[in-house]
Amino acid sequence: MSDIPIVDRVPGALQASSDPEALRLAYLSLLKMGLTDLLGVRTQTIHWNENGNLFLRHLKDEEMRFRVNGIDWPAHGMTMVGLERLDDLQGCVEEVVRNGVEGDLIEAGTWRGGASILMRATLNSLGVTDRTVWLADSFSGFPMPDREAYPEDSGIDFSDRDFIAVPIEEVKGNLDKYGCGEGVEFVPGFFEDTMAGMAAGTWAIVRLDGDSYESTMLTLSKLYPGLSRGGYLIVDDYGALPECRRAVTEYREAHDITAPMETIDWTGVKWRKETDSEPEKGQAPVPSRREKTDRRVVRQGGHRIPTMRERLLQDEIDQLKTKLEQAEANAK
Ligand SMILES: C[S@@+](CC[C@H](N)C(=O)[O-])C[C@H]1O[C@@H](n2cnc3c(N)ncnc32)[C@H](O)[C@@H]1O
Repeated sequence: MSDIPIVDRVPGALQASSDPEALRLAYLSLLKMGLTDLLGVRTQTIHWNENGNLFLRHLKDEEMRFRVNGIDWPAHGMTMVGLERLDDLQGCVEEVVRNGVEGDLIEAGTWRGGASILMRATLNSLGVTDRTVWLADSFSGFPMPDREAYPEDSGIDFSDRDFIAVPIEEVKGNLDKYGCGEGVEFVPGFFEDTMAGMAAGTWAIVRLDGDSYESTMLTLSKLYPGLSRGGYLIVDDYGALPECRRAVTEYREAHDITAPMETIDWTGVKWRKETDSEPEKGQAPVPSRREKTDRRVVRQGGHRIPTMRERLLQDEIDQLKTKLEQAEANAK
């Protein structure tokens, strides 16, 4: 984890009034509370016990700061991004619109779609209909790690996290639920297969949230050349994950990118592209490192996570089974 402190912030929406700008900001603040699942009486988090088994439990009052800062895995929220990063994302969208920065907006690594919903909602609130928000994801979770091609990722493997695998139909449903189903496009598939097809795009905002070295490098190298001058490159996992940080550092060094990196919060960073040619479209290195293999993970039980009570019962059943097996073995 990074050494940037997390913020102590009481979550709450802005008060609405009949002033259109105040109403727009109040709408977006309420939306962010909804996306992070901070509007209810309580909120649940995805936790794991000492055996590494995942289960759901309520966040305690003193733990709410984890959600506010985007540190825990929300059981029901639409995004794992915290309020500081969401505020900043909204600000970036407003700025590129205000400055007329050319291009669409793309998030690579969307999970349930919450951050993309915020980008679309911000555009809608400004009356912008001529820009598309693109959602790129496998919609089936992380690929199996390819340690041979990407030894940089030898320390992480999220491919067994079934709850990260959110089917595209569910993500579309989430966008519809928030009134953001129009003006969006989906790019389903692993980045190694899809990113080459996005390299011709022109972007005002590129938001990277794929966690690993591989995912960050693939998306950065194919999307950054299409980022317009004045547009924002946003990296969600820079502080949290050294693998992601390494990809960003290597890419910036390889392309002499000197635009100052701004810290958003304990993990998020961004920079504003300063020139039209760093590097030029079509000149990004081809990131695939070797012959393709099938890296899909076979997922058995969907992405439902048991509640704490179900998990405790399951643990009890497992213990009873073990005892029964021992008793049977002793009786022989
Ligand atoms: C941390 S989650 C994204 C969180 C999301 N931006 C939010 O607002 O909560 C990472 C996402 O990246 C996707 N992902 C990671 N590596 C990928 C790859 N190589 N190809 C396609 N999708 C990938 C996963 O499926 C997952 O949905």
